[in-house]
Amino acid sequence: MKTKLRLLWCVLALFGATMASCTHEASERSRTSDVIDQKVDSLLRLMTLEEKVGQMTQLTLDMICVGEPYQVEEPHRIEESKLVKVIETLKVGSILNNAGHGYDRETWLNFIGRIQETAMKNTCQIPVLYGIDAIHGVNYTNNATLFPQQISLAATWDTALVKSLAELSAYETRASGIRWNFSPVLDIARDPRWPRFWESFGEDVKLVSDMGQVMVEGYQGELSELGCIDSLHVSACLKHFVGYSQTLSGKDRTQAWIPERQLREYFLPSFHRAIDAGAKTIMVNSGEINGIPVHVNPAILTNILRNEFGFKGMVVTDWEDIRYLVTRHHVAASYKEAIKMAIDAGIDMSMVPVDLEFPVLLKELVDEGAITESRIDQSVRRILRLKFELGLFDSATPEVGMYPEFASEQHRALALKAAQESLVLLKNNNSVLPRKRTDHLIIIGENARSLNALNGGWTHTWQGVDTTLNTPDMPTILEAFKDRFDRVTYLTEEAYLQGGMASQQANEMVIAVLGETPYTETPGDLEDLTLPHGQLEVINKVAQETGATALVLVEGRPRTMGELPEGIDAFILAMLPGDQGGRALADVFTGSVNPSGHLPFTYPKHPSSHATYDHKYTDRIDTDFSLNAFDPLYRFGDGLSYTTFEYNELNMTHAPSSITDTLRIDVLVSNNGDLDGADVVQVYVSDSVASITPSVKRLRAWRRVELASGETERINFEIPMSELSFVGVDQNWVVEPGMFSVSIGDLTESFLIK
Ligand code: BGC
Repeated sequence: MKTKLRLLWCVLALFGATMASCTHEASERSRTSDVIDQKVDSLLRLMTLEEKVGQMTQLTLDMICVGEPYQVEEPHRIEESKLVKVIETLKVGSILNNAGHGYDRETWLNFIGRIQETAMKNTCQIPVLYGIDAIHGVNYTNNATLFPQQISLAATWDTALVKSLAELSAYETRASGIRWNFSPVLDIARDPRWPRFWESFGEDVKLVSDMGQVMVEGYQGELSELGCIDSLHVSACLKHFVGYSQTLSGKDRTQAWIPERQLREYFLPSFHRAIDAGAKTIMVNSGEINGIPVHVNPAILTNILRNEFGFKGMVVTDWEDIRYLVTRHHVAASYKEAIKMAIDAGIDMSMVPVDLEFPVLLKELVDEGAITESRIDQSVRRILRLKFELGLFDSATPEVGMYPEFASEQHRALALKAAQESLVLLKNNNSVLPRKRTDHLIIIGENARSLNALNGGWTHTWQGVDTTLNTPDMPTILEAFKDRFDRVTYLTEEAYLQGGMASQQANEMVIAVLGETPYTETPGDLEDLTLPHGQLEVINKVAQETGATALVLVEGRPRTMGELPEGIDAFILAMLPGDQGGRALADVFTGSVNPSGHLPFTYPKHPSSHATYDHKYTDRIDTDFSLNAFDPLYRFGDGLSYTTFEYNELNMTHAPSSITDTLRIDVLVSNNGDLDGADVVQVYVSDSVASITPSVKRLRAWRRVELASGETERINFEIPMSELSFVGVDQNWVVEPGMFSVSIGDLTESFLIK
């Protein structure tokens, strides 16, 4: 009888909830977000403790499939008894990931449809929130539009384009029945050894923050007045909060020691900005900082995230991280103790993802009085709110037949544009590039024959190495070049090293396509940042060729090679341009596209001599006591074009007089070459004396400008002095009076703040 009554109440509450959820009728628009709060509260009042802890539980798809976790039987299919146990008995609120590889849209819609149907059999009929890593397009849906990875997107310095790509990605994720995307990565990649370097937007705080903001805006679209996300968009998930990229060893999930000043100055701002942009969820760093795993650190998860940044959304753990508090970090003696610690610190949902114990133990903790039910309610409210905001209570089942633009020509064209803009030309002696269609190209290296190398990790599979699900008709570099040039010869690295010289004639070019094969997370840890020995041999031999030579590196982080040999005429850093990378590179080699990418990181020359562009003055002290130690192979912001740009007349149109004022400058940018092209005008500011040692310079503004051959444009910048602030002695942001200099290219102006 009691159950029946509860059922009736739940249905009534849900009816009300549905009325209040995110439809776009005019009457709805005027409602405040309190309406959702009220519905969340009335639903919460009807939920049992089992239902609440179930909502805080996230399992991986493997847990409801035929087979064992990590060994799911092919073809992947849902096992009814597991589905019932997970959704009906344990009332799990969220599922994530694939069970080993991506699927076609139909399979996704079928899986998610079955999960939601089962959830509807529960008394409170709360839909399941499905989450996925769709980090460069919906990379776990076959045939989706795959665009460049984040490091390559950062190299475009094109925020409008990146926003459009995020929208495209949200659309194709919705087309796969999924509404929650574990993206973007807002970790600042200041150490190229880190195996997830390429998943970031690079080393600079401003560039990462600007890119992160537009990515969130693109994923989530314009929110309704109720804070809801429409049917073309998804919830973003900022990750990995915070300090994940800065381990001592450079290896994944190993200890980091990050002083508060450094954390605030470099690692927190990108998250803060994305929170201000409305990001709905955040994922926690799996690592430990200063001896404390972030998952149990209330100073970070509650004080900074909630109290300082005002984050109202939902916090999810990373993979298995509560259990790792016992098995890896050794800060808890039992799983149950670890759960208590993490919940106390501020976790809302546990990405469990491969055990059924979490909700059981969490309930026990509440029954025993170790965790209060009101603490549980706090997290469940956030989870339910997100489900309302995502329209899951309106319709949880996937929208079959909608999303006709999935993988459309327009989407692919946008991915191609991004790949084209992401390629960074770093050397082009004697203008050896572009080449004529009739030239003979001799291409060396496995990466020229691998679509996987262009895409990197998180592509069809976690590590991105499986070739069977690759998007049909996407050309490798070699295939794209064969399409665009009359004579292309291919040699493996071994064959080339064993044979004689390849190029004898002026109309020939030897192109080495080297770098890395796909990886992510721990499998991508390195013992040596240097390019593998065999590749160095290839580069050195290519440098001896009498004809023209080029090096193309397809890689996720700057692998070192010492000096680039003189005999290499051209160098293009391709990074991870995605499915369209082969075409984009061919476009740059033919000259139909003028390269415009600029480095979002410093390219070190040697494996042990890395410093970021915004290093401190002491980082320049050399062995001979000169100040020349900062000597990277290429600098942050570097990138050439087939045309030449010149800067003139840097004017300070308004020299700021106080720390609350705004700096206004302009500069003439001219395209002096014969071709149309795009440049990235970068504004750096140096603070000459400060109470905390200043960086030699910081990027404070930038603009990507397209100029026709012969065109000149005056470009204006406004920089509020607050943007020149740094984290001071007392850990607060401060701007101190004194001398500053602002520079664009070789032009510099100074100003004094009294
Ligand atoms: C990664 C996250 C990812 C999660 C879910 C973890 O191993 O660190 O970035 O979102 O798995 O796939």
